Amino acid sequence: MQTKIASLSLQSPLLTASGTCGYSQEFGRLFDLNHLGAIVVKGITLAPRRGNLGTRLVESPAGLINSIGLENPGVEDFISGEMPFLRQQKIPVIVNISGNTLEEYGALAARLNEVAGVSALEVNISCPNVKQGGMAFGANCESAAAATRVVREHSTLPLIVKLSPNVTDIAAIAKSVEAEGADAVSLINTLLGMAIDVDKQRPVLGNIMGGLSGPAIKPVALRMVWQVFKAVKIPIVGMGGISSWQDAAEFILAGAAAVAIGTASFVNPIIIPEIHRGLKLYAEKQGVRNIAELRGLAHQS
Ligand SMILES: Cc1cc2nc3c(=O)[nH]c(=O)nc-3n(C[C@H](O)[C@H](O)[C@H](O)COP(=O)(O)O)c2cc1C
Repeated sequence: MQTKIASLSLQSPLLTASGTCGYSQEFGRLFDLNHLGAIVVKGITLAPRRGNLGTRLVESPAGLINSIGLENPGVEDFISGEMPFLRQQKIPVIVNISGNTLEEYGALAARLNEVAGVSALEVNISCPNVKQGGMAFGANCESAAAATRVVREHSTLPLIVKLSPNVTDIAAIAKSVEAEGADAVSLINTLLGMAIDVDKQRPVLGNIMGGLSGPAIKPVALRMVWQVFKAVKIPIVGMGGISSWQDAAEFILAGAAAVAIGTASFVNPIIIPEIHRGLKLYAEKQGVRNIAELRGLAHQS
């Protein structure tokens, strides 16, 4: 079940999806964290953020719409409050970072570069870019490349750039971050969605729109992993609606070197060890010694 993401050797291809397991202390009480290839923690920003006001989560028929708004304690409290536990784990810790400006991305990258126990950065470029009028850095090639460049300049850690699906050509954006030194890409973040309360005749979420995750987005995510696999040479971490070992296998066959599980853990908090067992049996039945041997096989003609 071993795989590699840039220079990171993972004992399992299964990761947590950022924002869906906090800082993993709760998961650690439910199952052996060693079933994970790595822990990807909730997005960190330079200053603490309280997140969005009002209703922040709503269920849709096949997924979840969230507008948490990057609630987190800020990088300094994260380092003092969460890193001591995370550092004790035997698996790599990947810190997801978000900035409002390029300067914030640079400062976060530089700060985390000095912190023992941080194994890699996952750069979330789907958050608002206030300097450019509310655009997400991941929305076009130029701003995605600029965010990658500034993080690369400030950090020697392996760099995974997390792409937004709310774009017309995700493969072009993946290529632009690869050209700036990204060691891997992860995809997909949530798709913009909304819900309306018919009694109140108002949007349900305080922020009106939120990010759709879960089974509803799996076909879109799989298609994007497929397209990005054909466009770049760097490894892909695939995610979006993975709820079973079969889903995880689909992403690997489409080209993912590792996969992350998010919303499905809210439905079944021990789904990651279950997917781990299923995938292991599948690999054995396929006669492969290493799960990486299955990567991208669906592309063979
Ligand atoms: C409640 C919630 C919070 C999230 N927070 C973050 C975050 O802080 N940073 C980030 O890059 N992605 C965040 N995501 C996106 C997930 O990491 C993942 O990309 C997305 O949910 C698709 O995977 P899934 O369908 O398995 O949940 C969040 C998702 C949810 C549901």
